[in-house]
Amino acid sequence: MNYVEFGRTGVNISPLVLGTMMFGGRASAEDSYEMIDYALDQGINIIDTANVYAGSKSEMIVGDALKRNGKRNEVILATKVNGAMGDGPNDVGNSRHHIIEQCDASLKRMQVDHIDLYQFHRPSKHIAIDESLRAMDDLIRTGKVRYIGTSNFGSWQVVESLWASKELGLNRFVSDQSPYNMADRRIEREHLPMCQTYGLAQIPWSPLAGGGLTGKYAKGSKHPEGSRYADETDPKKQLRMSNTVVDIVDALVPIAEAKNCTVTQLALAWVMSRPGVTAPLVGPRTLGQLQENMGAIDVEIDPEVDEALDGVVPPGEHVAEYYEASFAPNDHRW
Ligand SMILES: NC(=O)c1ccc[n+]([C@@H]2O[C@H](COP(=O)([O-])OP(=O)(O)OC[C@H]3O[C@@H](n4cnc5c(N)ncnc54)[C@H](OP(=O)(O)O)[C@@H]3O)[C@@H](O)[C@H]2O)c1
Repeated sequence: MNYVEFGRTGVNISPLVLGTMMFGGRASAEDSYEMIDYALDQGINIIDTANVYAGSKSEMIVGDALKRNGKRNEVILATKVNGAMGDGPNDVGNSRHHIIEQCDASLKRMQVDHIDLYQFHRPSKHIAIDESLRAMDDLIRTGKVRYIGTSNFGSWQVVESLWASKELGLNRFVSDQSPYNMADRRIEREHLPMCQTYGLAQIPWSPLAGGGLTGKYAKGSKHPEGSRYADETDPKKQLRMSNTVVDIVDALVPIAEAKNCTVTQLALAWVMSRPGVTAPLVGPRTLGQLQENMGAIDVEIDPEVDEALDGVVPPGEHVAEYYEASFAPNDHRW
């Protein structure tokens, strides 16, 4: 496996990140252990979770798996803070109070003494960035956290935070997570160039548009049973899964056939090949999906893929609504 530089950190990571949003929810603990062991055996060395995933079961499963296989020290372990962890007024967001409390809780749930990459899951627009940064900086100085990153920040918010870190002499963010796939190319406009300019690693989420780019959804037929978008009455899912996503797949099918790979692998390899992308986060629900996803590492992207895609979703455009499906209308985003 060819490892890639994780921004300016000096750490090298695998070209795919193992995302664990399904673990402990739609994937059982046993299936999740199996996927983690398989990924690490194949050379993946970075795992992403979050305090809120599957009611914290994802963090617990990841911690248990690393204890069982004894590979904790080989892994860059990433988790996140921001989402609501209770009903109280201080159980959410990027306040000093919540960050420090949740860092300790995540360490305990994962049974580890440090988090390699601690990320803000989302910005907190009512909390000054210097408060959040100071709390993160303290966690680095106490050894509980090694690096810090953002997720779902607007480009200006990332740059503001880099400026604040410089002004205040605090550790700066080293990475960002934003949605990026063939159906949503908005980060090409400003966010990816921003990451390149400031040396931030970009580890994009939903590289397969949540499964929409795998070829299993077809026009005129019911969404497959058990799939993420099976419920066609859910308005949030409707925003993400449209017929235009299927148009992309249709354009890719002949190219994938000629390359002897699957549409899933082509869509994933495309994200991996994009300038400014460090390594996409895959989010398998089954071992078979993970195995297919990992086949993307060997797929080369030719100009004909870009030509076919540009005809359906031009650079910087989108046909699936990731932010609209996830955020309140006036929330900050790029
Ligand atoms: N920072 C954030 O706000 C944020 C947001 C979302 C995700 N993430 C992170 O990013 C990771 C990846 O996101 P994602 O899960 O949305 O990624 P994704 O790769 O776009 O979608 C993954 C889903 O697609 C389907 N799938 C995957 N491989 C498949 C295959 N080979 N064949 C058929 N279906 C397949 C599965 O869903 P079904 O089988 O159920 O249909 C799977 O759960 C997450 O695990 C999480 O770590 C971060």
